[in-house]
Amino acid sequence: MKLNATTAQNSFKYGWLLSRIWPYIKPYMFRIILGFMIAIPLGLLDGVTAFALKPYMDFVIGGKNFEFAILGHNFVITSIQMSFILPVGVVLFAAFQGVLRYLNGYLSSWTSAHITNDVKFDLFERLIHMHPQFFDENSSGIIISRYMNDPGTASTGIVDNIRNITTSFFGALGLIAVMIYSSWQLAIIGVVVLCAAFIPVALIRKRIKSASNRNMVIGGNITTNINETYNGNKVMAAYGLQDRQNKYFREQVWESYNVGMSLYKRSGWMSPIMYLIASFGIATVLGFGTYLINSGQMTAGSFASFVTSLLLLYKPVKSLGNTLTGIQNIFVAMGRVFELFDLEPEIKDAPNARVLTGLNDSIKFENVNFEYIPDHPVLKNLNLNVTKNETLAIVGNSGGGKSTLVNLLPRFYDIKSGSIKFDGVDIREYTIDSLRKNISMVFQDNFLYSGTIRENIMMGNPDATEEELDQAIISAHLQDMIKEVPNGLDTMLGERGLTLSGGQRQRVAIARAMLRNAPIVILDEATSALDNESEAIVQKAMDNLMQNRTVFIIAHRLSTIKNADRIAVINEGELVELGTHDELMAIPEGEYKTLYEMQFKKQEVHTYA
Ligand SMILES: Nc1ncnc2c1ncn2[C@@H]1O[C@H](COP(=O)(O)OP(=O)(O)O)[C@@H](O)[C@H]1O
Ligand SMILES: [Mg+2]
Repeated sequence: MKLNATTAQNSFKYGWLLSRIWPYIKPYMFRIILGFMIAIPLGLLDGVTAFALKPYMDFVIGGKNFEFAILGHNFVITSIQMSFILPVGVVLFAAFQGVLRYLNGYLSSWTSAHITNDVKFDLFERLIHMHPQFFDENSSGIIISRYMNDPGTASTGIVDNIRNITTSFFGALGLIAVMIYSSWQLAIIGVVVLCAAFIPVALIRKRIKSASNRNMVIGGNITTNINETYNGNKVMAAYGLQDRQNKYFREQVWESYNVGMSLYKRSGWMSPIMYLIASFGIATVLGFGTYLINSGQMTAGSFASFVTSLLLLYKPVKSLGNTLTGIQNIFVAMGRVFELFDLEPEIKDAPNARVLTGLNDSIKFENVNFEYIPDHPVLKNLNLNVTKNETLAIVGNSGGGKSTLVNLLPRFYDIKSGSIKFDGVDIREYTIDSLRKNISMVFQDNFLYSGTIRENIMMGNPDATEEELDQAIISAHLQDMIKEVPNGLDTMLGERGLTLSGGQRQRVAIARAMLRNAPIVILDEATSALDNESEAIVQKAMDNLMQNRTVFIIAHRLSTIKNADRIAVINEGELVELGTHDELMAIPEGEYKTLYEMQFKKQEVHTYA
């Protein structure tokens, strides 16, 4: 399944998406509701400052006493007292609001981070069980953005939006209440104008969406480019590809810039227009307000409160508008996230799969057909029987299907038709876990994880004892190297084991395979990348690994091939010859004979001269 960088199928099924994310939100519901309840007074408090202006103007500046009665008692607050009470009150309110804002921000960061983590944990769990073809098809950039960035956008978005919508909504409500209290006529004008000012926002939603999709694709390209620069740094240096990488990087960054700028060109007029519309509103309010004050229908204090509220109203209304436009993106991100949840690994256990506990008899390929891409057969009707503890060498033209053949054994890929049987049972009837536990693999380029040498070897069998570990190290001819490095077995390896030579890395991989102690061993060009000297020692290590095991070995080294029990020649996906070295050499014009004369003869002269 090839993932799309931007879209997913179900991004518009809002109800469905909410029902999918609900289980992640549910455990934090109490905190979310608490945040909700804090958001209400937090919003309402915006109106307090505006509200305080009215008594300040009317009583302090107007020099009047404020008289009121509570439960039959009369109270008088003089204008001097009022001139102290109001400023102090405003500051106290601001402090109170600050505390609430902190609590609210803390709660929402906490909940959104927890929800994001939960979603990420579950997604990563699915990612690590995906089948190899999934990784073949999708670039690292797309995987990173879809598995690591989207969960954050989706979860943080949901929580932040709930928070923004409540705060802004109640903020607006509080301010509108102050406005209505000050003058209902002016309030109607103000609200109508403000709503009109937000019409442009609705108009440009689509443009924003297409640009943000484009930017996401570019983001993925840039990540892939950086990964390739990193992983391919040697090839880049060797072939002077710096300019190529640089050019691509600059192109993508500029493209992202262009998308951003063209978006600004097309949407940047929005804000000035909004201000213009708002200014008409303010002009109308000023004119009408002057009339109301002059005709005695409104005090100067009410007017001050009103205008302040109107100006303060801009912020929550704008943030409501933005939230409502941004919500679409969150659903799109959620759609992408839940699309990943619904991806099923194509290679998985059959119901009632049985456990493979070793090989007793044979491995059989029966009429095996396989293709990576539909209608491009890679293995064609292949039949092969390998008996227990036999060593089978596989040779043939490059791209003929040798690696494919051995990758079918641990079910990295499933065959199209036919069957592969261990002891007469189709490998699809065993659990994947037990099947793979019975196979040790060493490739041409073995990935070493960042960690110590010990950790990398122990990956073969985490339960191995110290003696078993020592034995594996000796069999892999690693003991001298381990003595030489500064921290011995506990020496850290770089992200890809960069501090080791090719031969050393292969031997670490062989020790790992050795520790696994599996009855079936697969060696795919394990010495092909090495020079003669390291090849010789790696070969010795390999010989130890191969003892008393059923071995599939793909190799170029003549002695290895000659020593194998049988040799299979695979050409263009077909098994063309099968037999011992002498048998195959006896076929006139045979494929093996030709290959031998072309390729191995030189080695023979070289090795035995
Ligand atoms: N992951 C893959 N996706 C698609 N095609 C692949 C993949 N791996 C190998 N192939 C193709 O399958 C064919 C056999 O490849 P492979 O088994 O690696 O050959 P060999 O190991 O004999 O050199 C080649 O044509 C190759 O391009
Ligand atoms: Mg190969």
